[in-house]
Formats: sequence, structure tokens, C-alpha cells
Amino acid sequence: MNLSIFGLGYVGAVSLACLARDGHNVIGVDIEPAKLSLIREGKTPVVEEGMIELMAAVAASGRVSVTSDVAAAVGDSEISLICVGTPSAANGSQDQSAALRLAKDLGAAIRNKTQPHVFVFRSTLVPGTVEDVLRPIIERESGKKDGEGFHLCFQPEFLREGSSIRDYDRPPFTVVGSNHPYAIGKLKDLFGHLPCEFHVTSVRAAEMLKLCCNNFHALKITFANETARLSHALGVDPFEVMELVCKDKQLNISPAYLKPGYAFGGSCLPKDLRATMHLAKQRDVELPMLGGILDSNRQHVELALHHILSTGKRKVGMIGLSFKTGTDDLRESPLVTLAEQLIGKGLDLLVYDPEVHLSRLLGANKSFIERHVPHIGRLIREDINEVIDNSELLIVGLSGGAVSDAVQARATAEHTIVDLAHMTDVKGVVPNYIGLCW
Ligand SMILES: NC(=O)c1ccc[n+]([C@@H]2O[C@H](COP(=O)([O-])OP(=O)(O)OC[C@H]3O[C@@H](n4cnc5c(N)ncnc54)[C@H](O)[C@@H]3O)[C@@H](O)[C@H]2O)c1
Repeated sequence: MNLSIFGLGYVGAVSLACLARDGHNVIGVDIEPAKLSLIREGKTPVVEEGMIELMAAVAASGRVSVTSDVAAAVGDSEISLICVGTPSAANGSQDQSAALRLAKDLGAAIRNKTQPHVFVFRSTLVPGTVEDVLRPIIERESGKKDGEGFHLCFQPEFLREGSSIRDYDRPPFTVVGSNHPYAIGKLKDLFGHLPCEFHVTSVRAAEMLKLCCNNFHALKITFANETARLSHALGVDPFEVMELVCKDKQLNISPAYLKPGYAFGGSCLPKDLRATMHLAKQRDVELPMLGGILDSNRQHVELALHHILSTGKRKVGMIGLSFKTGTDDLRESPLVTLAEQLIGKGLDLLVYDPEVHLSRLLGANKSFIERHVPHIGRLIREDINEVIDNSELLIVGLSGGAVSDAVQARATAEHTIVDLAHMTDVKGVVPNYIGLCW
């Protein structure tokens, strides 16, 4: 293919070299003349393992050229990969000035182009940038419409500096955010041979994914480092601990606990986090990330409360009370916290939980609920239908087919549903649906 690459930094230069190595004709564009001269001479503009040899080889192949002329580069290519920098501005926002300036030039460059052109943004951009910010600029400057004459895509780049050629060849996956089969087909031709899954999603989800992956990496590093600080203070070998943590592929290094939902609770996580923070305080170890978790969890409960109160409804039915589906354990259940708050606000509450039968509760579980919601016995109903029929607002805190069937069968147009359990089959069926954060 004939390709153009805009921005010849770490991402752009490595992509240029690898794509030319794979047989494509690549035109490199940058505003820094020094980078263009280096590439013209077959030298690498970035320090990366393997780049010296690769740049020399691809320059000698005749498949690489460089220019500062945007219109010529776009005119002589069918796909443009945009890899300009998006650093932090002083206030923490993303400085998109390079992408904005370039979008203007790219739009002007396709004004008179007769062949369709695909613009693939590979720079990290905050969600909404491609469709809400860059698309209007390109449409205005070109006089054409996205999908008619040109196609915009966002394809996050996952290479890491230091191992970027290896990462280019073995990415974790290829994700293309696009609205157009033409562009998806072109990117499949270009990257479909890589030994990884190829996923197509919306442009915004692809933009969000890139931020999310980097945040997750930062979170993991900080988790290991905070664990190490506390372990070291306690005379425990942090490497031994983290190596063992990583050996659990069922609950630790796995998709477990990575699905959005309602707040966590139960008899283990909150108390053990508190014990960890107390231990850290005793040893003068600062753990701001772990220390922030319970507050973030509390804010999730606050969000549910906000949704409920903002409906203005007074007769509330709650499906679920225990801390997760399939248990009767009420200790530190975030649904109990919610129930407490709703009762405190004077709302009429009825509760149904298939697993919770007050007469059968024992020990710590019993004393927890007696302490937090002393008159819970008056609120609990054994029949889900009774709760649905006697409420204007239904809080669904439990997942499962039986709950979903009952809600779909009994909920009327007068009901508002606040869904804390991501009941996908309920959404769309009931008219007044409020998802927690979906
Ligand atoms: N560095 C990484 O490991 C990495 C990995 C994945 C994604 N990213 C993202 O990719 C993007 C590029 O990162 P980088 O590290 O390669 O940046 P970089 O700063 O090394 O390179 C950016 C290049 O863009 C050029 N440029 C600026 N305006 C231009 C214009 N109008 N036309 C042509 N070129 C222009 C600059 O001169 C520079 O050479 C960023 O959004 C970054 O967040 C980086």
C-alpha cells in the first residue's frame, strides 16, 4: 500500500520502519527538518532497539521517502497514520494543538482528491476528540463528509518505548474504532496479519480504551509498589509476595473483578483494607492509592443514592440486600448502606432478597443487620411481586433470570427502575430505566 505517516517520533518512526520493512511504500512527514534529514540518510530519529539497522535497510529499499508537504503526502497515499504528540498542558488537559493544526492541513489536502482517503489517528486522544473536534475541522477544510470521500478511524497504539519493534510485531491486540466498513477493510489489510485478535469498536470506545489501558498499567505498577512499601516495612519480601499474587490466574491476573457494577462490600474486602491502612499508619507507610479505595467505593453508593433521590419518588422497592447475588451475608453490604440512607431520608421502603430470611440469620450476620437497619423485619417481603406492585421506584441490586423475569412481567409504565446490577435484558423493556453508570 501507499501510506503516509504524520509525526516521526517514537510511534511514527517505528511504524514507518516496520511498515516499509513489510513491503509498503511509506511517506514520512514531520515539522522538524532534522528528523526528515536523518530518515533521508537512513538514520533513526529515535533511540530504540533494532532501529539503526532497520532504518538503514528500509531507506536502502527505496520504499521510504520524507517530506514536509502535507498535500503531496496525502495525494500520494491512500491511508494516513497520524502519530503527532499529545503532551500534557499546564492544567493537566491534553495539548492537542499539533493534532488540530494538522487536521486543518489534512482537510485541505483532500479537497481535490478524487480517491477515498483513510485517516487513522494513532496519537492518544481523549474520548470524543476524533468525532467532535477533528472531524468538523477536516470536513470544513475539505468540503467533504466523513464516510463520503474520506474516513476517520482511531486505532490506539500499544507499543512501549525500549521494545517498540517487538511490540509492533506482537501487539496485545489490534483495536480499530471506526464507523465505516471501507476503512476497517483497509486496516485489516494493513494489520490483519499480526499474531493477535483484531477488534472493531466505536471511535469513542477506542479512544477511551487507550486511556483505560494506560491507567490500568499505572494502577498495577502503583499497586505493586504500595504492596512493596508495606511488605518491606513488615520485613516481608515484596518480590515473593507479588510473584505469588501473579500465580493466581483465577482471581488475580484474570478478568475477575473487572466488570463495572455496584459497590463492593461483604465480610472481607472492606475490613481487610481497613486493617491494611491501620498497619501502614502504625509503620508510617503512606499508601494513598490503597487508602483511596474505600472512599471511591462510598462514592459509588452516593451515585446510586443520587439517582434514586433525583426521581422524587417516595415508594421504593429494593430487590437484593446481601452484598452479592447468591449469598445471605449482609455484613457491610452496600445495599444495606443504601437501605439505611433511604430510610433516613424518610422514603417508604420494601425489600426482597431470595437468600435473606431473617429467621435464619445467625451470629455476626444477624447482629450486623440488627445494628444497621433495626426494623428491617417490617420491610422484608418474601414475594418479589409484592415489592414490585407496591413501589413506584424499583432498585435492582441482584442479577439473575428470576429477578429479570419478574421485573419484566410486573413492572409497568409508572415504574422507574434504578439498575445497579446491569440487567441488560431489562434495559429497553421498561420505559423509565436508569443505569448506575451505563
Ligand atoms: N511513546 C510511546 O511509547 C507511545 C506509545 C503509544 C502511544 N503514544 C502516543 O502516540 C503519540 C505520539 O507519541 P510519540 O512518543 O511518538 O511523540 P513524539 O513527541 O516523540 O513525536 C511526535 C512528533 O510529531 C511531530 N509533529 C508535531 N506536529 C506535527 C505536524 N503538524 N505534522 C507532522 N508532524 C508533527 C513532532 O515534530 C514529533 O516529531 C502521542 O499521542 C502518544 O501519547 C506514544
